[in-house]
Amino acid sequence: MLKFDFTNALGENLLDGIKYEDIKGITGRLHAFLENFRQNPPGFVKVFKDSSHLEQILKVADKCKKFENFVLVGIGGSALGNQAVFGALFHPMWNSLPKDKRNGFPRFFVMDNVDPEHIASILDIVDPAESVFNIVSKSGSTSETMANYLVVRGILEARGLDPREHLVFTTDPNEGVLRKISIDENIPALEVPSNVGGRFSVLTAVGLLSGASTGVDVKKMLDGAQEEVDRFKNEDDTFKNPVLLNAAIHYLYSRSGKSISVMMPYSNALYTLADWYRQLWAESLGKEKSLTGETVNAGQTPIKSLGTIDQHSQVQLYMEGPNDKVITFLRVESFRRNLKIPVVHQDRKELSYLCNNEMKDLINYEQEATSLALLEHGRPNLTISFDSIDETEIGRFFGYYELLVTVMGFLYNINTFDQPGVELGKQNTYALMNRKGYEAQKQHIEDVKKNLKIFKI
Ligand code: PA5
Repeated sequence: MLKFDFTNALGENLLDGIKYEDIKGITGRLHAFLENFRQNPPGFVKVFKDSSHLEQILKVADKCKKFENFVLVGIGGSALGNQAVFGALFHPMWNSLPKDKRNGFPRFFVMDNVDPEHIASILDIVDPAESVFNIVSKSGSTSETMANYLVVRGILEARGLDPREHLVFTTDPNEGVLRKISIDENIPALEVPSNVGGRFSVLTAVGLLSGASTGVDVKKMLDGAQEEVDRFKNEDDTFKNPVLLNAAIHYLYSRSGKSISVMMPYSNALYTLADWYRQLWAESLGKEKSLTGETVNAGQTPIKSLGTIDQHSQVQLYMEGPNDKVITFLRVESFRRNLKIPVVHQDRKELSYLCNNEMKDLINYEQEATSLALLEHGRPNLTISFDSIDETEIGRFFGYYELLVTVMGFLYNINTFDQPGVELGKQNTYALMNRKGYEAQKQHIEDVKKNLKIFKI
């Protein structure tokens, strides 16, 4: 179970914090959301229980498992969830482990950024003949993914390797060039359901194929997410419903000037979850217009931080800098591995408090200490505890945050599920790359550039 501690976020314990009364002031709206959710759950929720796609995903995964390398080609919502799962559930040195230590499962690589050094270095160590490339793009039109796909395809062709053996597409069921290629050339393809947006798609084929192919029990992730949905939709009391309460806290703080939301896991394995969260929070909530057309410039800037490392880098700012943040700690009660700090240097009193203690206790005490210190500085913070890091807990986390951001979007009265800002950037790239059909946009860019006051040094 994920456990939530909101003690240090509430005004009763913080001088200028939001109070129970403030939260009560918006419970009417929260209940309206809950009512509507019960009648019309969003698309991403429906996939948690829908096993119809799972069978096909597992079948394709069985084929992918026989390869030495599983290479995911995708970006944004088509890669961050996969990386979060991998970071959380896998040995940190997975790709360096011998095959038997990987229980025979493939190594895992991600081709996301079009940084030529990054991509070339993956291709240095991945033999295409021993690799399956999963090209993930809901739209089938994202420049980075398509460029990386073309690079992969070029290599397969140059090596005389059958694309049907080495490629799997994950894309829209009907639209886009990947779907067309898959039909024309009989390349295996899985579906991203039309009603699930990129950043909400980790528990569809987007995230499940790479997981299942590398040995993750993906059913447990789906069940964990569904448990969070059930807990959410069956609890009317905002103060007992961790999604509603957290949404109220973040929304009210953001309205009173806390424009930054920090996620700070005290676990290296959970750090990639914070990357996934950053995209979810930023793209879903960062909106110029409300649903009724007013300019609102909604959102909170999501920041990721790692405990204990960033205690020695960021926490000074969180403690004494601008009081503009809500901090969410992630902690783990039961680590998969532990170390006992040995009793050495018995004559050194300065070190004796560490000796004979467990490292898991040290990291958790450090989290608690930081959280209390922030409270004493009037900085709101809350803690989400994982019993342990496993498939079910990670699934719960995904389900929980997808619900949370949806409630937040409702409170802001914005469209949580679109990303017009991202789209404009994509279109500008097409124009700059002289894509056919984008001539007008190219002209517009040229005109804008003419008026820029150049200041290059
Ligand atoms: O959340 C989103 O919709 C975006 O971040 C997309 O996931 C990202 O732009 C990649 O898009 P696509 O899967 O269409 O290649």
